[in-house]
Amino acid sequence: MTSTSLPPGPPLPPVVQALIMLRFGPRFTAACRRRYGSVFTLRVAAMGTLVYLADPADIKTVFAGDPRIYHAGEANSMLKGLLGDTSVLVVDDDLHRERRRLMLPPFARDAVVRQEELIAGIAAEHLARWPVGTTFPVAPWTARITLEVILRTVIGASDPARLAALREVMPRLLTVGPWETAAIANQALLRRRPWRRLRTAIAEADRLLYAEIADRRTDPDLSARTDALAMLVRAGGLTDTELRDQLMTLLVAGHDTTATGLAWALERLTRHPEILARAERAALSGDDEYLDAVAKETLRIRPVVFDVGRVLTEPVELAGHRLPAGVMVVPGMLLVHDDPAVYPDPDRFDPDRMVGSALSPSTYLPFGGGPRRCLGATFAMLEFRVVLREILRRAVLDSTGAPAERRRLKHVIFVPHRGARIRVLARRDTPIAAAGQAPSCPVSQHTG
Ligand code: HEM
Repeated sequence: MTSTSLPPGPPLPPVVQALIMLRFGPRFTAACRRRYGSVFTLRVAAMGTLVYLADPADIKTVFAGDPRIYHAGEANSMLKGLLGDTSVLVVDDDLHRERRRLMLPPFARDAVVRQEELIAGIAAEHLARWPVGTTFPVAPWTARITLEVILRTVIGASDPARLAALREVMPRLLTVGPWETAAIANQALLRRRPWRRLRTAIAEADRLLYAEIADRRTDPDLSARTDALAMLVRAGGLTDTELRDQLMTLLVAGHDTTATGLAWALERLTRHPEILARAERAALSGDDEYLDAVAKETLRIRPVVFDVGRVLTEPVELAGHRLPAGVMVVPGMLLVHDDPAVYPDPDRFDPDRMVGSALSPSTYLPFGGGPRRCLGATFAMLEFRVVLREILRRAVLDSTGAPAERRRLKHVIFVPHRGARIRVLARRDTPIAAAGQAPSCPVSQHTG
């Protein structure tokens, strides 16, 4: 085969497909799968030609493929306006390999488990302020915890005034609607007047991040520090701008994602009283395996990131087609996670299915896969476990018969449409010291 071809797909104009994707993404792709089979083409305005893959064998081919042919950085290029041109998320080829190699040590298992006590302490401090006796959306509260975790463990910020300023400006960068998303995707727009608010917020965040970088460069105790920024400065090889871009990437990629995953876990648990009771027992008895199963099952049934993509730099034989260069192949995360042949009774929230199971990167992909798999996956899973454990130890949660919350697309992540409304019946008194457990690691999958 020498000529290229595209799999079938809906014959709708790209603008219409874009609007449907924004509003009904998961339902639309599921309908296309039923109609066209396990590979289909969408033409989406502002994104291009997307070839969705639902067959784990094809997904495996993509994740195992040559990263010079399967460009992830190019697929993420719409984030450049916020993350910068040198972010590990938006670069490809040798530059990506080199940057990722530099950034791996702070996110390797041994470095991550050293942060466990700090994370537990932050969660405990924040939980003491959660409202009791009223129903409230928990997503902003989990976001405050995960932002603090990132600021303290990754950036290592400790100056109170700077920490306060970062706490204030970061949510402004992340609560972007389609309007701001357009400006982040198109940097020419960002320079224009209507986007001044976003531009000012980015400039303020930059000022604070550059101040942290300058501090670290002159810190006499640099060698003793455990934050990711200190480790990157020690490794050398990155300019201030490059460091800023990586910090911004870690803040953006690592904060809202984990917060949203935790919010979904609470949304799911409070709708399943028996599973909630079991998770509480697990938290109180130190059964981390069950808490990890709750985290994994939450990310299966409610994966946070919309989808991951790879732009082809040359024609590729895949799924029975010779796909042309320039198309974006998309391993269909939701399509696989919801496939009854892979996960029997897929709509059932069932952490037990995750206990002791060996997860394959081609059938479990909340963190993507291959050489571009989420750099912070080990960190995220540890944080998920520790924060969930603290929540269940310190708060008695009410179960609810309220309907499941729908997914709403916020930028590139799916959030619960009402913010995951929960009710804390009472606080349990657990001393902060009890939070630290013997360090172990929840993720056995590869993280490289
Ligand atoms: C539940 C939480 C999280 C989820 C669901 C998540 C998901 C993802 C996904 C789907 C990707 C794209 C992977 C691919 O293209 O194959 C990604 C990339 C990335 N994530 Fe995460 N992530 C989470 C937490 C974090 C955390 C805590 C950090 C760091 C502090 C982080 C840092 C990154 C980075 C740097 C990349 C780019 C990797 C590369 O291009 O080489 N993420 N993440």
